[in-house]
Amino acid sequence: MEGVTGWLFRQAHRHWFSGVDRYFMPFLSPRQEHAFTRREASDFLPEHNRGLYAVPQLLTRSADDFLWAAGVLADLGYREVNLNLGCPSGTVVAKGKGSGLLGRREELERLLDGIYARAGIPVSIKTRLGLRDPEEFFPLLELFNRYPVCELIIHPRVQKDFYRNQPRLDAFAAALASCRAPVCYNGDLVTAADCAALIRRFPGVTALMAGRGAVADPALFSKARGGPGADRGALRAFHDELYAGYAQAFGSRRNATLRMKEFWSYLLGLFQDGAGQAKALRKAADPAAYEAAVNHIFQSLPLREDAAVIW
Ligand SMILES: Cc1cc2nc3c(=O)[nH]c(=O)nc-3n(C[C@H](O)[C@H](O)[C@H](O)COP(=O)(O)O)c2cc1C
Repeated sequence: MEGVTGWLFRQAHRHWFSGVDRYFMPFLSPRQEHAFTRREASDFLPEHNRGLYAVPQLLTRSADDFLWAAGVLADLGYREVNLNLGCPSGTVVAKGKGSGLLGRREELERLLDGIYARAGIPVSIKTRLGLRDPEEFFPLLELFNRYPVCELIIHPRVQKDFYRNQPRLDAFAAALASCRAPVCYNGDLVTAADCAALIRRFPGVTALMAGRGAVADPALFSKARGGPGADRGALRAFHDELYAGYAQAFGSRRNATLRMKEFWSYLLGLFQDGAGQAKALRKAADPAAYEAAVNHIFQSLPLREDAAVIW
Protein backbone atom coordinates (compact mmCIF):
# COMPACT_ATOMS: atom_id res chain seq x y z
CA MET A 1 0.00 0.00 0.00
CA GLU A 2 1.45 3.26 -1.21
CA GLY A 3 2.63 5.44 1.70
CA VAL A 4 2.08 2.67 4.26
CA THR A 5 3.89 -0.59 3.50
CA GLY A 6 7.32 0.60 2.35
CA TRP A 7 10.47 -1.35 3.11
CA LEU A 8 10.70 -0.31 6.76
CA PHE A 9 7.18 -1.61 7.30
CA ARG A 10 7.88 -4.85 5.46
CA GLN A 11 11.05 -5.54 7.45
CA ALA A 12 9.49 -4.67 10.80
CA HIS A 13 6.48 -6.82 9.93
CA ARG A 14 8.63 -9.80 9.06
CA HIS A 15 10.61 -9.39 12.30
CA TRP A 16 7.56 -9.53 14.55
CA PHE A 17 4.85 -11.42 12.66
CA SER A 18 4.69 -14.56 10.56
CA GLY A 19 2.50 -16.13 7.91
CA VAL A 20 3.34 -13.99 4.86
CA ASP A 21 4.69 -15.69 1.75
CA ARG A 22 5.06 -12.60 -0.42
CA TYR A 23 5.05 -8.85 0.15
CA PHE A 24 3.78 -6.80 -2.80
CA MET A 25 5.50 -3.45 -2.87
CA PRO A 26 3.71 -0.11 -3.30
CA PHE A 27 3.66 0.84 -6.97
CA LEU A 28 6.57 2.43 -8.79
CA SER A 29 5.77 4.77 -11.70
CA PRO A 30 8.57 4.37 -14.24
CA ARG A 31 9.09 7.60 -16.12
CA GLN A 32 10.05 8.24 -19.74
CA GLU A 33 13.53 9.37 -18.67
CA HIS A 34 14.14 5.84 -17.42
CA ALA A 35 15.42 6.87 -14.00
CA PHE A 36 13.97 6.09 -10.60
CA THR A 37 13.81 8.68 -7.86
CA ARG A 38 15.96 8.14 -4.78
CA ARG A 39 12.87 7.41 -2.73
CA GLU A 40 11.67 4.77 -5.20
CA ALA A 41 15.11 3.17 -5.43
CA SER A 42 15.33 3.00 -1.64
CA ASP A 43 12.19 0.86 -1.55
CA PHE A 44 13.49 -1.76 -3.99
CA LEU A 45 17.13 -1.76 -2.92
CA PRO A 46 17.99 -5.46 -2.35
CA GLU A 47 19.50 -4.72 1.10
CA HIS A 48 16.19 -3.22 2.14
CA ASN A 49 14.30 -6.35 1.12
CA ARG A 50 16.71 -8.95 2.39
CA GLY A 51 15.05 -11.99 3.97
CA LEU A 52 11.65 -11.51 2.38
CA TYR A 53 10.05 -12.33 -0.96
CA ALA A 54 9.13 -8.92 -2.29
CA VAL A 55 7.29 -8.31 -5.56
CA PRO A 56 7.79 -4.91 -7.17
CA GLN A 57 4.74 -3.37 -8.80
CA LEU A 58 4.73 -1.05 -11.81
CA LEU A 59 2.08 1.52 -12.71
CA THR A 60 2.43 2.62 -16.31
CA ARG A 61 0.71 2.63 -19.69
CA SER A 62 3.97 2.38 -21.62
CA ALA A 63 5.41 -1.01 -22.56
CA ASP A 64 8.86 0.56 -23.07
CA ASP A 65 8.86 2.09 -19.61
CA PHE A 66 7.57 -1.16 -18.09
CA LEU A 67 10.24 -3.22 -19.83
CA TRP A 68 13.01 -0.82 -18.79
CA ALA A 69 11.92 -0.94 -15.14
CA ALA A 70 11.34 -4.71 -15.18
CA GLY A 71 14.86 -5.16 -16.61
CA VAL A 72 16.39 -3.09 -13.80
CA LEU A 73 14.45 -5.07 -11.21
CA ALA A 74 15.32 -8.44 -12.78
CA ASP A 75 19.01 -7.45 -12.77
CA LEU A 76 18.70 -6.72 -9.05
CA GLY A 77 17.46 -10.26 -8.48
CA TYR A 78 13.69 -9.83 -8.36
CA ARG A 79 11.90 -12.93 -9.63
CA GLU A 80 8.56 -11.40 -10.61
CA VAL A 81 7.07 -8.00 -11.45
CA ASN A 82 3.44 -6.99 -11.08
CA LEU A 83 1.46 -4.70 -13.39
CA ASN A 84 -1.03 -2.44 -11.60
CA LEU A 85 -4.40 -2.32 -13.41
CA GLY A 86 -6.32 -1.68 -10.20
CA CYS A 87 -5.47 1.77 -8.83
CA PRO A 88 -8.77 3.72 -8.77
CA SER A 89 -7.35 7.18 -7.97
CA GLY A 90 -8.87 9.93 -10.14
CA THR A 91 -5.49 11.38 -11.16
CA VAL A 92 -4.10 7.96 -12.10
CA VAL A 93 -7.23 7.05 -14.09
CA ALA A 94 -7.21 10.43 -15.88
CA LYS A 95 -3.70 9.60 -17.12
CA GLY A 96 -4.96 6.28 -18.48
CA LYS A 97 -3.02 4.23 -15.92
CA GLY A 98 -4.06 1.74 -13.25
CA SER A 99 -7.73 0.85 -13.54
CA GLY A 100 -7.99 3.61 -16.19
CA LEU A 101 -6.50 1.12 -18.64
CA LEU A 102 -9.42 -1.25 -18.12
CA GLY A 103 -11.57 1.15 -20.15
CA ARG A 104 -9.06 1.43 -23.00
CA ARG A 105 -9.16 -2.04 -24.40
CA GLU A 106 -7.02 -1.49 -27.53
CA GLU A 107 -4.35 0.38 -25.64
CA LEU A 108 -4.31 -2.32 -22.97
CA GLU A 109 -3.90 -4.97 -25.63
CA ARG A 110 -0.92 -3.12 -27.13
CA LEU A 111 0.61 -2.74 -23.68
CA LEU A 112 0.23 -6.45 -22.86
CA ASP A 113 1.51 -7.44 -26.33
CA GLY A 114 4.65 -5.36 -25.72
CA ILE A 115 5.18 -6.53 -22.16
CA TYR A 116 4.65 -10.25 -22.67
CA ALA A 117 6.61 -10.41 -25.92
CA ARG A 118 9.75 -9.02 -24.33
CA ALA A 119 9.75 -9.16 -20.52
CA GLY A 120 12.60 -11.33 -19.31
CA ILE A 121 10.86 -11.93 -15.98
CA PRO A 122 7.47 -13.43 -14.99
CA VAL A 123 4.75 -10.76 -14.94
CA SER A 124 1.63 -10.92 -12.78
CA ILE A 125 -1.35 -8.56 -13.04
CA LYS A 126 -3.42 -6.91 -10.32
CA THR A 127 -6.82 -5.86 -11.64
CA ARG A 128 -10.32 -4.69 -10.78
CA LEU A 129 -13.40 -5.98 -12.59
CA GLY A 130 -13.73 -2.91 -14.77
CA LEU A 131 -14.42 0.80 -14.65
CA ARG A 132 -18.16 0.93 -14.08
CA ASP A 133 -19.75 -2.46 -14.51
CA PRO A 134 -18.48 -5.91 -13.52
CA GLU A 135 -19.72 -7.23 -16.86
CA GLU A 136 -16.69 -5.47 -18.35
CA PHE A 137 -14.56 -8.22 -16.85
CA PHE A 138 -15.47 -10.94 -19.35
CA PRO A 139 -13.80 -9.35 -22.38
CA LEU A 140 -10.91 -8.27 -20.15
CA LEU A 141 -10.43 -11.83 -19.00
CA GLU A 142 -10.53 -13.05 -22.56
CA LEU A 143 -7.64 -10.65 -23.17
CA PHE A 144 -5.64 -11.63 -20.06
CA ASN A 145 -6.07 -15.30 -20.98
CA ARG A 146 -4.04 -14.77 -24.15
CA TYR A 147 -0.84 -14.01 -22.22
CA PRO A 148 1.36 -16.04 -19.87
CA VAL A 149 0.18 -14.07 -16.82
CA CYS A 150 1.99 -15.74 -13.89
CA GLU A 151 -0.77 -14.75 -11.46
CA LEU A 152 -3.95 -12.73 -11.75
CA ILE A 153 -4.78 -10.83 -8.56
CA ILE A 154 -8.41 -9.80 -8.65
CA HIS A 155 -9.88 -7.10 -6.44
CA PRO A 156 -13.55 -7.61 -7.28
CA ARG A 157 -14.66 -4.01 -7.25
CA VAL A 158 -14.97 -1.65 -10.21
CA GLN A 159 -13.08 1.63 -10.39
CA LYS A 160 -16.10 3.71 -9.52
CA ASP A 161 -16.51 1.75 -6.26
CA PHE A 162 -13.11 2.97 -5.04
CA TYR A 163 -13.06 1.11 -1.69
CA ARG A 164 -16.79 1.50 -1.02
CA ASN A 165 -19.53 -1.12 -1.12
CA GLN A 166 -18.92 -4.82 -0.77
CA PRO A 167 -16.55 -6.78 -3.01
CA ARG A 168 -18.63 -8.20 -5.88
CA LEU A 169 -18.25 -11.86 -5.03
CA ASP A 170 -20.88 -13.13 -7.45
CA ALA A 171 -19.08 -11.49 -10.35
CA PHE A 172 -15.80 -12.89 -9.01
CA ALA A 173 -17.36 -16.38 -8.89
CA ALA A 174 -18.55 -16.08 -12.47
CA ALA A 175 -15.10 -15.03 -13.67
CA LEU A 176 -13.01 -17.48 -11.67
CA ALA A 177 -13.87 -20.56 -13.70
CA SER A 178 -12.61 -18.91 -16.90
CA CYS A 179 -9.25 -17.62 -15.61
CA ARG A 180 -6.27 -19.37 -17.13
CA ALA A 181 -3.73 -17.91 -14.70
CA PRO A 182 -3.58 -18.85 -11.00
CA VAL A 183 -5.94 -16.46 -9.20
CA CYS A 184 -5.19 -14.52 -6.04
CA TYR A 185 -8.20 -12.97 -4.31
CA ASN A 186 -7.93 -9.50 -2.75
CA GLY A 187 -10.51 -7.42 -0.91
CA ASP A 188 -11.88 -6.82 2.59
CA LEU A 189 -10.12 -9.74 4.29
CA VAL A 190 -10.00 -8.54 7.90
CA THR A 191 -10.27 -11.68 10.03
CA ALA A 192 -9.01 -15.24 9.89
CA ALA A 193 -12.67 -16.24 9.49
CA ASP A 194 -12.91 -14.02 6.37
CA CYS A 195 -9.91 -15.85 4.90
CA ALA A 196 -11.34 -19.27 5.76
CA ALA A 197 -14.75 -18.37 4.29
CA LEU A 198 -13.16 -17.13 1.09
CA ILE A 199 -11.17 -20.34 0.63
CA ARG A 200 -14.23 -22.43 1.43
CA ARG A 201 -16.35 -20.65 -1.13
CA PHE A 202 -13.61 -20.47 -3.79
CA PRO A 203 -11.35 -23.50 -3.46
CA GLY A 204 -9.90 -22.70 -6.89
CA VAL A 205 -8.23 -19.55 -5.54
CA THR A 206 -4.51 -20.19 -5.04
CA ALA A 207 -3.55 -17.18 -2.89
CA LEU A 208 -5.04 -14.47 -0.72
CA MET A 209 -3.85 -10.88 -0.56
CA ALA A 210 -4.76 -8.50 2.25
CA GLY A 211 -4.08 -4.77 2.45
CA ARG A 212 -5.93 -2.68 5.02
CA GLY A 213 -6.88 -5.69 7.14
CA ALA A 214 -3.24 -6.73 7.42
CA VAL A 215 -2.10 -3.27 8.51
CA ALA A 216 -4.94 -3.09 11.05
CA ASP A 217 -4.05 -6.54 12.39
CA PRO A 218 -0.44 -7.40 11.56
CA ALA A 219 -1.05 -10.96 12.82
CA LEU A 220 -3.85 -11.55 10.29
CA PHE A 221 -1.77 -13.93 8.17
CA SER A 222 -0.53 -15.82 11.20
CA LYS A 223 -4.09 -16.25 12.47
CA ALA A 224 -5.37 -17.25 9.03
CA ARG A 225 -2.89 -20.13 9.15
CA GLY A 226 -3.97 -21.24 12.61
CA GLY A 227 -1.16 -19.39 14.41
CA PRO A 228 -1.36 -16.93 17.29
CA GLY A 229 -2.91 -13.48 17.22
CA ALA A 230 -1.05 -10.25 17.93
CA ASP A 231 0.14 -9.85 21.48
CA ARG A 232 0.79 -6.49 23.03
CA GLY A 233 4.54 -7.06 23.25
CA ALA A 234 4.95 -7.85 19.56
CA LEU A 235 2.73 -4.93 18.57
CA ARG A 236 4.74 -2.55 20.72
CA ALA A 237 8.03 -3.87 19.34
CA PHE A 238 6.68 -3.60 15.78
CA HIS A 239 5.56 -0.03 16.42
CA ASP A 240 8.87 0.96 18.01
CA GLU A 241 10.95 -0.52 15.20
CA LEU A 242 8.85 1.28 12.61
CA TYR A 243 8.94 4.61 14.44
CA ALA A 244 12.71 4.43 14.99
CA GLY A 245 13.19 3.44 11.34
CA TYR A 246 11.17 6.39 10.02
CA ALA A 247 12.88 8.81 12.43
CA GLN A 248 16.25 7.68 11.12
CA ALA A 249 15.19 7.63 7.45
CA PHE A 250 13.61 11.10 7.62
CA GLY A 251 16.24 12.50 9.99
CA SER A 252 13.36 13.78 12.14
CA ARG A 253 11.11 12.28 14.78
CA ARG A 254 8.52 14.93 13.99
CA ASN A 255 8.26 13.78 10.36
CA ALA A 256 8.20 10.20 11.56
CA THR A 257 5.10 10.92 13.66
CA LEU A 258 3.22 12.04 10.54
CA ARG A 259 3.88 8.71 8.86
CA MET A 260 3.06 6.84 12.07
CA LYS A 261 -0.30 8.60 12.33
CA GLU A 262 -1.25 7.13 8.97
CA PHE A 263 -0.25 3.69 10.25
CA TRP A 264 -2.35 4.22 13.40
CA SER A 265 -5.40 5.10 11.30
CA TYR A 266 -5.45 1.35 10.58
CA LEU A 267 -3.91 -0.13 13.75
CA LEU A 268 -6.30 1.63 16.12
CA GLY A 269 -8.97 -0.72 14.81
CA LEU A 270 -7.30 -3.52 16.75
CA PHE A 271 -7.88 -1.81 20.11
CA GLN A 272 -11.13 -1.59 22.02
CA ASP A 273 -12.33 2.01 21.91
CA GLY A 274 -9.53 2.73 19.43
CA ALA A 275 -11.77 5.28 17.73
CA GLY A 276 -11.86 7.28 20.97
CA GLN A 277 -8.06 7.69 20.83
CA ALA A 278 -7.93 8.77 17.20
CA LYS A 279 -8.39 12.44 18.07
CA ALA A 280 -5.65 12.47 20.72
CA LEU A 281 -3.24 10.95 18.25
CA ARG A 282 -4.25 13.29 15.46
CA LYS A 283 -3.80 16.32 17.72
CA ALA A 284 -0.35 15.26 18.95
CA ALA A 285 1.72 18.17 17.67
CA ASP A 286 5.23 16.99 18.53
CA PRO A 287 7.06 13.73 19.15
CA ALA A 288 6.63 13.94 22.95
CA ALA A 289 2.84 14.29 22.61
CA TYR A 290 2.78 11.50 20.03
CA GLU A 291 4.78 9.18 22.29
CA ALA A 292 2.54 9.95 25.27
CA ALA A 293 -0.57 9.14 23.22
CA VAL A 294 0.98 5.89 22.04
CA ASN A 295 2.01 4.90 25.58
CA HIS A 296 -1.53 5.51 26.71
CA ILE A 297 -2.93 3.27 23.96
CA PHE A 298 -0.52 0.42 24.67
CA GLN A 299 -0.87 0.66 28.43
CA SER A 300 -4.60 1.12 28.82
CA LEU A 301 -6.59 -0.03 25.80
CA PRO A 302 -7.48 -3.73 25.65
CA LEU A 303 -6.97 -5.47 22.34
CA ARG A 304 -10.12 -6.58 20.58
CA GLU A 305 -10.65 -10.26 21.20
CA ASP A 306 -12.33 -10.95 17.90
CA ALA A 307 -10.82 -8.92 15.10
CA ALA A 308 -9.75 -5.52 13.92
CA VAL A 309 -12.21 -2.97 12.61
CA ILE A 310 -11.64 -1.04 9.40
CA TRP A 311 -13.16 2.42 9.44
C1 LIG B 1 -3.62 3.83 1.22
C2 LIG B 1 -3.69 2.75 0.19
C3 LIG B 1 -2.63 2.58 -0.69
C4 LIG B 1 -2.69 1.56 -1.66
N1 LIG B 1 -1.63 1.40 -2.52
C5 LIG B 1 -1.66 0.39 -3.43
C6 LIG B 1 -0.55 0.14 -4.31
O1 LIG B 1 0.47 0.84 -4.29
N2 LIG B 1 -0.65 -0.89 -5.18
C7 LIG B 1 -1.76 -1.71 -5.21
O2 LIG B 1 -1.82 -2.66 -6.00
N3 LIG B 1 -2.82 -1.48 -4.42
C8 LIG B 1 -2.78 -0.47 -3.53
N4 LIG B 1 -3.85 -0.27 -2.71
C9 LIG B 1 -5.00 -1.19 -2.80
C10 LIG B 1 -4.83 -2.39 -1.88
O3 LIG B 1 -3.68 -3.12 -2.24
C11 LIG B 1 -6.03 -3.34 -1.98
O4 LIG B 1 -6.17 -3.78 -3.30
C12 LIG B 1 -7.32 -2.67 -1.55
O5 LIG B 1 -7.13 -1.88 -0.39
C13 LIG B 1 -8.38 -3.72 -1.26
O6 LIG B 1 -7.87 -4.74 -0.43
P1 LIG B 1 -8.02 -4.70 1.19
O7 LIG B 1 -9.48 -4.65 1.48
O8 LIG B 1 -7.35 -5.96 1.65
O9 LIG B 1 -7.33 -3.46 1.67
C14 LIG B 1 -3.83 0.72 -1.75
C15 LIG B 1 -4.89 0.91 -0.86
C16 LIG B 1 -4.84 1.90 0.10
C17 LIG B 1 -6.01 2.07 1.04
